[in-house]
Amino acid sequence: MSPERGRPPRRAVVRAARRGLGYMPGTLLIAAVAGVLGLSLGAGGVPDVVPAGGGLTVNDVTSKAFGQHAPGLPIGELRHFTIGNRLFNTNWVIAPASVRSLDGLGPYFNRVSCSACHVRDGRGRPPAGPEAPMMSMLVRLSVPGPDGTPAAHPIYGEQLSDRAVEGLAPEGRAAMTWEPLAPFVYADGSVVPLRRPRLDFVDMADGPLGPGAMTSARVANAVFGLGLLEAVSEAHVVARADPDDANGDGVSGRVNRVWDHDAQALALGRFGWKANQPTLRQQAAAAMAGDVGVTSEHFAGGNYTAAQTDAAALPNGADDEGVELSRKQLNRLTFYLQTLAVPARRDTHNPVVQRGEQLFGAAGCNACHTPVMQTGATAAHGVLVDQTFAPYTDLLLHDMGPGLADGRPDGLASGREWRTPALWGLGLQKRVSGHTFLLHDGRARNAQEAVLWHGGEARGARDRFARWPAEDRAALLAFLDSL
Ligand code: HEC
Ligand code: HEC
Repeated sequence: MSPERGRPPRRAVVRAARRGLGYMPGTLLIAAVAGVLGLSLGAGGVPDVVPAGGGLTVNDVTSKAFGQHAPGLPIGELRHFTIGNRLFNTNWVIAPASVRSLDGLGPYFNRVSCSACHVRDGRGRPPAGPEAPMMSMLVRLSVPGPDGTPAAHPIYGEQLSDRAVEGLAPEGRAAMTWEPLAPFVYADGSVVPLRRPRLDFVDMADGPLGPGAMTSARVANAVFGLGLLEAVSEAHVVARADPDDANGDGVSGRVNRVWDHDAQALALGRFGWKANQPTLRQQAAAAMAGDVGVTSEHFAGGNYTAAQTDAAALPNGADDEGVELSRKQLNRLTFYLQTLAVPARRDTHNPVVQRGEQLFGAAGCNACHTPVMQTGATAAHGVLVDQTFAPYTDLLLHDMGPGLADGRPDGLASGREWRTPALWGLGLQKRVSGHTFLLHDGRARNAQEAVLWHGGEARGARDRFARWPAEDRAALLAFLDSL
């Protein structure tokens, strides 16, 4: 992913390593970094590498690296995984169809399958320009509610549906135009071009969004390893939150709290770019409803508003339970998401990568991208219990500054806050998803641009990175590429 692909010669690496260790006496620095990472020191004082997914780690560097099941699944559970995998890849069709269990698409939808956006369980990409349709991203919508909290848009609901079943006009289309910005210039004169998207709403079936409407364009996240993030205890996540920055390091970190339909209570938000979903089951059901137009027990009404009477009049694919996705199907799909394995890191013995890892700590990246997490003694499935793994996220919300702000609150998340994304699998994204676009709207064309966009609470870390010599910046990027 690093734009500076060339590897510095070995002597330069050693020199760079010595200079880096000059920040602190060598062994002290390694011990400090290891301490922050929660690692034990292996032979020679080099930290042992925690397997990216703990016991759910697989060695796969192919384009299928994000789609493997957890090793050691009992045979019966392997069957559940296979069925869930099939549901994830199913192209849903309009009801009534010959296979009644897989119909119910629409009336509005974005894509006909989960895997259309999460291609090979990987990340989506933004359109190249305003004429291109969104193929693996979507736009969330809202208006300020009566009590100041965000409410669904009165006509178009919570998300813009750019596709619809035959005979019904899609809600409209978000056209994305890339505006070039002044490039970032390092002290050594090297230049990084930056761009930001502008959204225009075209072909809106029921008129413009209107004043006050808030929008948020988001690419599909990769979906592997999420069972581990779901199994981290709430107390563990809350313990890392520092809402008022009591420790004064400039990095706070807040939890999102969202409605959990299964528990019928507010719960910690974990999934989505703003931690707006509490569980994988609910995330899957919400995606079925919102993205594919398939109803289930928690989202039994169709994905149209009271204003959209044409949509309400169309046939649906409801079964005996009154919904299009049965409880069993939802459970299998959830099982699939919970047990997708994590690809192992690569290149961990490369001294440049090891130095990049130290610099990641020295810059303060790990204040949010928590290297090591643990699951608890209880989890949805045995393979998820008591795992130590390396996701590089704290699952908390951080103010990332005005540059990245979407201005659209989501639960307790403000218009400037985003959940720290996990960084695992970053170096395999190109292989799996065919591109290196990053950040919530895909504006960053590579990891370097993504880092330079960090503002707000992450401003300090970004500035430290930006002040380093090119060799050090390259080492950090090489580390990210090894994840
Ligand atoms: C139109 C594209 C699209 C389709 C189709 C789609 N998703 Fe997503 N998915 C997204 C986007 C965008 C997000 C981030 C949502 C947000 O931040 O609000 C997301 C988030 C997720 C997440 C959370 C990932 C994380 O790291 O927190 C999961 C799990 C998920 N989707 C599963 C599914 C499943 C299951 C389906 C099929 C029922 C599906 N998605 C269909 C675009 C899509
Ligand atoms: C204050 C918390 C915080 C700190 C510190 C921080 N990050 Fe981030 N990082 C985030 C958040 C939140 C995002 C998502 C922002 C968005 O999508 O708009 C992000 C996104 C990223 C991404 C893109 C990930 C993706 O899935 O698109 C990379 C790469 C990254 N950070 C690396 C770093 C590095 C390297 C550092 C240190 C120089 C760092 N971050 C410091 C919070 C932080």
